Amino acid sequence: MSQQLEDMKSDTAALHEKAKQTLIQNSRMNAYTIPSKNLYPFQWNWDSCFTAMGWLQFDEERAWKEMETLFSGQWKNGMVPHIIFHEMVDSYFPGTAVWRAGEKVDSSGISQPPVAATSVRYLCDKAQDKEMVKAKVMALLPQIFESHQWWHNDRDPEHKGLVATFHPWETGRDNSAEWDEALENVCTARLEEYRRLDVTLIDPEHRPSNYEYDRYLSLVQLFRDHDYDQKKIHDITVFKIADVGINSILLRANRDLLVMLEEFKPDDGWMAETVKGWIERQEKAFSRLWNEETKAFHCLDLVSGELIKEVTSAAFLPFFAAVVSKEQGKHLVAHLDKWSEVIEYAVPSLDPYDEKLDEKRYWRGPVWAIVNYMIADGLQLFGEQEWSERIRNDTGKLMQQHGFAEYYDPKTGEGLGGIDFSWTAAIWLIWAGL
Ligand code: GLC
Repeated sequence: MSQQLEDMKSDTAALHEKAKQTLIQNSRMNAYTIPSKNLYPFQWNWDSCFTAMGWLQFDEERAWKEMETLFSGQWKNGMVPHIIFHEMVDSYFPGTAVWRAGEKVDSSGISQPPVAATSVRYLCDKAQDKEMVKAKVMALLPQIFESHQWWHNDRDPEHKGLVATFHPWETGRDNSAEWDEALENVCTARLEEYRRLDVTLIDPEHRPSNYEYDRYLSLVQLFRDHDYDQKKIHDITVFKIADVGINSILLRANRDLLVMLEEFKPDDGWMAETVKGWIERQEKAFSRLWNEETKAFHCLDLVSGELIKEVTSAAFLPFFAAVVSKEQGKHLVAHLDKWSEVIEYAVPSLDPYDEKLDEKRYWRGPVWAIVNYMIADGLQLFGEQEWSERIRNDTGKLMQQHGFAEYYDPKTGEGLGGIDFSWTAAIWLIWAGL
């Protein structure tokens, strides 16, 4: 073996070990994983779903525990909150004093992209201990079903096939340029005084602006003032968007849930029939997110009825939902080709030709490993091997050269935001384990 090849192998082994250690060090109460030490000291919903898949590579029981702990925070109405505050830590804002929400456990009052079914299906497929699989999955399936039911009923009360999001934080792509126009309409007149802590830990130039935070918190206050009543909020809020990210992830999650319901049969078949109905409705509705002019998928503003103009990395998530036609797929791949002419590492979170591109600012340009994981997986399903591999390789290179950062500059590769980040480390483990 050449020296170069040997060095590469030992580097990879070292990184693998580092990825495991990252999860172990970010583990709390042996039950859940915080995203990163200083910045995010609680359990985050979609972070945990990806992290559980990472745990599976070296500790199956701990992987299941991650999902069980997540669902321990589920509300009676079915919603799985975006943050669950299992322990008191005062280094994070906004914490329990702002949200004043949660039932069995304190939590935030909004949700996050529903990756749980996809994660649990992954655990089912890859776990060695099949007895444990059966026991765990039978308990989780009804809970996951109820969380999807919440999306389909409370967030799509007219059953049109596209679910609404009420808050940028709910999309997981907090400060994406896609939310700019809708946020302009959010009233900040009654905003209570607050102090951000994130900007004391990370360069403020890499984080959302104060203008955005004022609106994020005004929305939280509005929800709290209405006791998190979904129907009331649905009727009055000015921020109501069918996010192409959430809708793609939910459709994929429904497909994964259906496979598990049919395999494990936790009931008389009613849940599977219901899920089939959701899938059908979603598949029909997806065409509303396609823009013939830009030849891309967009978010839909449900208040104005208009498609939101930005094209972001979420435009490729319909691949993950297996809802892209041959023709649409060709155009989406052409976007990736064109984007790659001006960036080094795919996939930037905003169209790199967009004047709002900001390579270092959170969701306005940087590359995120978890989004890459979903896009690469989707492209593979679609049969686009070349781009799927390119995205996987780019992500691996970023991690090898810059560690398990929260996000990366798509031009220089620089690792930004939090360090030793759980879901980034998990993606390394997942891909190494393939
Ligand atoms: C940020 C991200 C969000 C993530 C959270 C914890 O808020 O935008 O997607 O879940 O951090 O990592």
